[in-house]
Amino acid sequence: MTDPSFPSVRPRRLRATPAWRRLARETRVHPEQLVLPVFVREGAGEPLPIASMPGVVQHSIDSLRREIVRAAEAGLGGVMLFGVPEHKDAEGSGATDPDGILNVATRLAVEEAGDALVVQTDLCLDEFTDHGHCGVLDAHGAVDNDATLDRYRDMALAQAEAGSQLLGLSGMMDGQVDVVRSALDDAGRTDVAILAYAAKYASAFYGPFRDAVQSSLQGDRRTYQLDAANRREGAREVALDLAEGADIVMVKPAMSYLDVLADAAATSPVPVWAYQVSGEYSMIEAAAAHGWIDRERAVDESITGIVRAGADAVLTYWAVEAAERLSGRGARRRDA
Ligand code: PBG
Repeated sequence: MTDPSFPSVRPRRLRATPAWRRLARETRVHPEQLVLPVFVREGAGEPLPIASMPGVVQHSIDSLRREIVRAAEAGLGGVMLFGVPEHKDAEGSGATDPDGILNVATRLAVEEAGDALVVQTDLCLDEFTDHGHCGVLDAHGAVDNDATLDRYRDMALAQAEAGSQLLGLSGMMDGQVDVVRSALDDAGRTDVAILAYAAKYASAFYGPFRDAVQSSLQGDRRTYQLDAANRREGAREVALDLAEGADIVMVKPAMSYLDVLADAAATSPVPVWAYQVSGEYSMIEAAAAHGWIDRERAVDESITGIVRAGADAVLTYWAVEAAERLSGRGARRRDA
C-alpha cells in the first residue's frame, strides 16, 4: 500500500484540468502587447511573398491599408514599419526623403490607424543603403559612427514629420538616442517617443530579414551590434540608452537572449520590449512545415516565454494570428 501522506507536496493538483491550469496561470499575453512588423515596398500592386518567411509578405502601398485594418481589428498594440526602397545608395538617401517609401507608408498607416494602433518606424539605414550597413561608411569602408548620427537626426525628423509616434532606433550607433532626442526636442517634437534597440545582438537569426528587405549586406554587423556572449554588456547598453532618454528599451533577438531580457526587466524603469526576429519565426515555421512540431503550440509557447521572461510587449510576425487565438477568434484555444 502506498503511504497516503507521501508525497506531502503535490503540485500536480493545480494542473489537473484545463480550468485549473487557466486559473493557476502566472503569465497572460494580451493582444495589445503584440506589435506587428510590416514590410512595405515601393510601388502598387499585390503583396510579394518573402521566400524565407512563409506567410509574411512585402506589402505594396495598396495592401498596406488592409494590413493596418487587420492589425487594428486584431486588437494589436501597434505596427512597426520597414521600408523597402526601389533604389538604394551609399547614404541611404531614401530614408530622409519625405517621399521615400517608409515616410509615405507612415503617413498612410497613421491615417488608417487613427487611435487604434501606435504607428512605429524602423530608424536605421540598412534598408536604404546599397552596401546594406546600418550607417554610412568612411573612406576605409568602416561604419562611421558620428557621420551616421547626422543621418539618423535627419531621418528622425522626416519620420516625425510623416507622423510616426515611436521611432525604433535599431542601428546600434553610440549616442544615437541622445542625438535623436535632442533633434526632436529642438524641432518642437517632444511628443515623439523613442524605442531604443538597446541590447541588439549580432545574430544569425536576422538571416531571413535580409531577404525581406532585399539587403545585400557586405561584411557583417559585428562592429556595432553586441557579441552574443555578452550579458553584462547588454545591461550596460540598456543603462546608456535610459540615460540618453529612451522611452522604451528593446532586447533583440528574443529567444536566445531571455537572460538579457530578464535583467533589463528587473532594472528598467521604462517598458522593456523584445523582438522575436525573422529567424525565430522561420525556424518554427520550417519545423512545423515538416510536421516536426505542433505549429500553433510552438508559436504560443515562444511568445509566452518571452513575456514570462519580462517583456512588456513583443514584436512578432505572428502578432495577428496569436492575437486572434488569444481573443478566442483563432483556430484553437491556446490551452486546450
Ligand atoms: C535594422 C533591423 C534589422 C532587423 C530589424 N531592424 C536588421 C539587422 O539589424 O540586421 C531584423 C529583424 C528581423 O530579423 O526580424 N534595420
